[in-house]
Amino acid sequence: MYAESPIDPADMMTNLGLYIRSSALVKFLVIDDLYRRIIDVPGAIIECGTWYGQNLVLFENLRAIYEPFNKSRRIIGFDTFTGYTGFSDKDGDGEIFRQGNYSTLSEYQDYLAELLKVHESCSVLGHIHGEHELVRGDITQSVPAYFQEHPDQSVALAYLDVGLYEPTKAALEAIKPNLLPGSVILLDEFNWRDAKGEALAFKEVFAGETFKIEQSRLTPLRAIVTWGVSR
Ligand SMILES: C[S@@+](CC[C@H](N)C(=O)[O-])C[C@H]1O[C@@H](n2cnc3c(N)ncnc32)[C@H](O)[C@@H]1O
Repeated sequence: MYAESPIDPADMMTNLGLYIRSSALVKFLVIDDLYRRIIDVPGAIIECGTWYGQNLVLFENLRAIYEPFNKSRRIIGFDTFTGYTGFSDKDGDGEIFRQGNYSTLSEYQDYLAELLKVHESCSVLGHIHGEHELVRGDITQSVPAYFQEHPDQSVALAYLDVGLYEPTKAALEAIKPNLLPGSVILLDEFNWRDAKGEALAFKEVFAGETFKIEQSRLTPLRAIVTWGVSR
């Protein structure tokens, strides 16, 4: 019905709720829940495993709503943009874990960068650019390299959605020293046995640390970790 909608394209953007299903709407609600948790925590929002970058665009628009004058809220996405790569025997054997799965079209990174810039331009202080970064490459190397290069960068929110053991472990090890009390980590597949590498990596890197972990009330596959806060 969406593809054959009688609604004028100019009116479609303000009427998307006609077509969005609960399974997609809940993803928006999760992103909103996460953003509201970190409004008072300084630092960047990062996503490991962006795919088309919908979450990055949602984060940018929530920044415009919740803290329009906070131009220090850097939003950083890490992805190969060529899909899954490099599996280990600690990973699950879920259908999604196939070489190249979730690959975007070539040059998609440039399109996403432009899209983020357009969203940013429409906000208060929209003339100030440069708060978004898209880092291409294997997260196993790119996230540690990013924090070696930017040791000053704190992390308010890390959305982990690679689902594989090695990149998740490397990302968590690089992010951990940059967390602040109240920083949040979202583990997208924590309760999904088909993607057990994510939970294994988290348990190894966070063993003995002080944190609170909750199952997301919105989507039980996801877990929300709050750093430095004990239950
Ligand atoms: C499930 S998708 C992410 C979906 C996205 N977070 C969303 O909610 O729309 C997983 C992403 O991880 C990326 N990916 C997988 N392994 C990677 C690696 N080792 N380094 C960088 N990106 C990787 C894939 O290219 C894919 O875009």
